[in-house]
Amino acid sequence: MIADAYAHGQAKLKSKNYIIAPSVLNANFLRLEADIKATERGGADWIHLDIMDGNFVPNISFGPGIVAQIRKCTKLPLDCHLMIEQPELHIEAFAKAGVQYITVHAEATKHLDRLLNRIKELGCKAGVSINPATPLEAIAEVLDLADLVLIMSVNPGFGGQSLIPYCLDKINYLRSIKPNLQIEIDGGVNLKTMPLAKKAGANIFVIGSAIFSAKDIEKETKKFL
Ligand code: DX5
Ligand code: ZN
Repeated sequence: MIADAYAHGQAKLKSKNYIIAPSVLNANFLRLEADIKATERGGADWIHLDIMDGNFVPNISFGPGIVAQIRKCTKLPLDCHLMIEQPELHIEAFAKAGVQYITVHAEATKHLDRLLNRIKELGCKAGVSINPATPLEAIAEVLDLADLVLIMSVNPGFGGQSLIPYCLDKINYLRSIKPNLQIEIDGGVNLKTMPLAKKAGANIFVIGSAIFSAKDIEKETKKFL
């Protein structure tokens, strides 16, 4: 199943030069399976899973048990964004739950190099993220080690916030020094801001409330293709 989802994701990457990753954070969890399938029919490439511990961010979401359930209801690659302190204590559980990408925050761990290597040893792709107020220098040494860089464009914790414009400058600079890097943007991405993020150089777009607050989720997802 894990290998299948990864192959599916790679095929999608080849057929289109950007990735749409709906975030289920603001989804209706009572009908999560149906809504995930609606984004899949709408052309979503990955499903983005926001894991929050009430410590690194002021909100609590869900853990590996729910992720394992989600794994059963979609073939899409699962893009797991850990907004938790000491992510090193939990990466194994998320890898076992069947995710393809594990992204950790540079601010949340002391040994980023070791952690990214460990994620890869577990058979996942390793992502690194920084909050809006964290400079790119915090991840400069691991840019060649990470499989993707996730630039937070809101202060993490909640869906439905507005994109902070200076975060686009970070993406712009990163793209200028790393033409082939997978650059993911997360927070405040909607039909108005996505073109700006694309122009800055992002190629993976996390979209939460702009998709899951819509009445027709399939139709709304298609608008981002
Ligand atoms: C924010 C999360 C995001 C969030 C995005 O803390 O990391 O993935 O779900 O939601 P929107 O698109 O509504 O900003
Ligand atoms: Zn996220």
